[in-house]
Amino acid sequence: MPSAADATDLSRTHDAFNDLVAELDHCMLVVTVQAGEERAGCLVGFHTQCSIEPPRYAVWLSKANRTYHVALGAETLALHFLGADNEKLAALFGTVTGDATDKFQRCAWSPGPDGVPLLDDCDAIVIARRGALVDDGTSDHVCIVLSPTEVRAPRTALDRLMFSAVHDLEAGHAATEHSQDAPVV
Ligand SMILES: Cc1cc2nc3c(=O)[nH]c(=O)nc-3n(C[C@H](O)[C@H](O)[C@H](O)COP(=O)(O)O)c2cc1C
Repeated sequence: MPSAADATDLSRTHDAFNDLVAELDHCMLVVTVQAGEERAGCLVGFHTQCSIEPPRYAVWLSKANRTYHVALGAETLALHFLGADNEKLAALFGTVTGDATDKFQRCAWSPGPDGVPLLDDCDAIVIARRGALVDDGTSDHVCIVLSPTEVRAPRTALDRLMFSAVHDLEAGHAATEHSQDAPVV
């Protein structure tokens, strides 16, 4: 049983950690998926390349999000690396949940490989096959490892939409909403 002093130390560490990572800037993605008749997508800040050869990319989806639940039944995911002018897409996919609203009625998109929705206003897209899922059983996000199968991107780098530009958005689902009975993988 942790003592009150231990709990205070842990809480200080937690606050210091949050302050530090809030300063780290990185570009934002919209991840989209389709499984059967269901399509979903959400704004994602937790993502990174995780292997060079073979190339692999990892995204972390919140167990609270509809996108996570649809992704469990999808083989293909599309990663949209947002441009600096994609704030509206960030707000739509980050603050609205597909549990209540069909986000795809509110933006232009076309079906891509395996039916995955591709957002017309985004010009840097990686289409990828779903691989391993990593869930430590306690975290509120699950890591999904992806193998890129197609890249649609301009040859010249564009200005990206960064976390610092969207960190004030209120997420459609708080990650803390995830229920303990979310599927464990
Ligand atoms: C700045 C910001 C960063 C976010 N990063 C993530 C993330 O890395 N992973 C994730 O699953 N959700 C993330 N979210 C939350 C989802 O985008 C948001 O809850 C969304 O409305 C969920 O939609 P859905 O229920 O239709 O899947 C983020 C939201 C914001 C505003």
